[in-house]
Amino acid sequence: MQQNQITKNSPQIQSLRVNVGERGYAVSIGAAALDQLTQSEFFQGNQVLLVTNHTVAALHLAQVLALLSAAQNQLQVETCVLEDGEEHKNLASAEQIFAKLSAMRASRDVTLIALGGGMIGDITGFAAALWMRGVPFVQLPSTLLAMVDSSVGGKTAVNLSSGKNLIGAFWQPTAVLADLNLLVTLPDRQLSAGVAEVLKYGAINDSAFFAWLERNAEKLMARDSAALAYAIAESVRHKAEIVARDPHEKGERMLLNLGHTFGHALELAGGYQKILHGEAVALGMLAAARLSEILALAAGQIELAQSLAADFERLRQLLLAYSLPTQLAFPARATELLALMKLDKKSLSGQLRLILWRGVGKAYVGTASDAQILAAWPAVL
Ligand code: NAD
Ligand code: GLY
Repeated sequence: MQQNQITKNSPQIQSLRVNVGERGYAVSIGAAALDQLTQSEFFQGNQVLLVTNHTVAALHLAQVLALLSAAQNQLQVETCVLEDGEEHKNLASAEQIFAKLSAMRASRDVTLIALGGGMIGDITGFAAALWMRGVPFVQLPSTLLAMVDSSVGGKTAVNLSSGKNLIGAFWQPTAVLADLNLLVTLPDRQLSAGVAEVLKYGAINDSAFFAWLERNAEKLMARDSAALAYAIAESVRHKAEIVARDPHEKGERMLLNLGHTFGHALELAGGYQKILHGEAVALGMLAAARLSEILALAAGQIELAQSLAADFERLRQLLLAYSLPTQLAFPARATELLALMKLDKKSLSGQLRLILWRGVGKAYVGTASDAQILAAWPAVL
């Protein structure tokens, strides 16, 4: 596999706190952040189950096992290596984790470790939330997407064939170690997919960060370590602030789903195999931007609609700068996609709640008619 460069003069590790519940936890970001695994406070007991997949195991498992064997706690470490791919984020894979925990006779002080992207993080957290009604788990995110989004905030889940992340729990990790060195082996397409979730934070409520991302596309795509560290830390800071105010998504946290109701429909239409989550979010944000414009026109807000058309184009250009798609690469009909949107978790009494915007950095929760949603889809089809 081609090795991508991360510049050597890595910045020091930054630590950000996620203040959720009584304890909160730290997210450490930087090159060699994984070295913290040797510290004893990561583990209550000495049983550890490390969950990963075949791809990540081949690249990074040996290093993590070596660090765990150097930990002060005399750890008994077992590993569970799952199949790679979003189509395996399901109950069958979760059962494999539970089978391992049973074989280990894991007690309530077992620690689960998720080494991988968002797929592994979500399913490991799901298993941790359920095993003996809840045991600690540590996130070792290995994709950009997992570092900036899925490893932080405690949303855990698996997919059903009827919908994405439909069963899960809010269960916070005890620590997150985002080691930039892991990104060296990440394929370019996965890097771009991760950037989609980074852009999301700028699009939601930080126009200055959005503008920084416009100026720094070349550096980020070249994996400049200072640029990566800044983008990850800013993303985690945004997410941590929102999650601290609304851990269970009763209100403000819904904004973090910008592009997701549209995006999840695309993932489902592609059988979880034809489009990456981050790519689906990118297209979903564009569709949401177009819908916002349609709503402004319907309300007779002509000036707003004009500035929304300009911001749609600004977003489209930004996606192109990060090699993200702006058009769906497989055939799908708007009516089919609208039907797939209906199982969205934000819906109340069958009414979809959508994340819309009044322009870059100004997202809000709103509603739209089926006809308006159908009119927005062609922007990306
Ligand atoms: P992923 O976990 O499927 O990883 C993408 C690919 O990269 C996989 O093939 C994986 O094996 C590979 N990979 C991982 N690390 C690597 C490395 N260092 N080097 C080389 N290859 C590597 O996908 P993802 O984009 O990380 O995560 C998407 C998932 O996250 C989805 O299931 C999505 O629903 C979920 N998600 C959850 C949250 C949340 O808040 N819990 C937020 C966003 C997304
Ligand atoms: N990824 C959206 C959230 O964590 O709320």
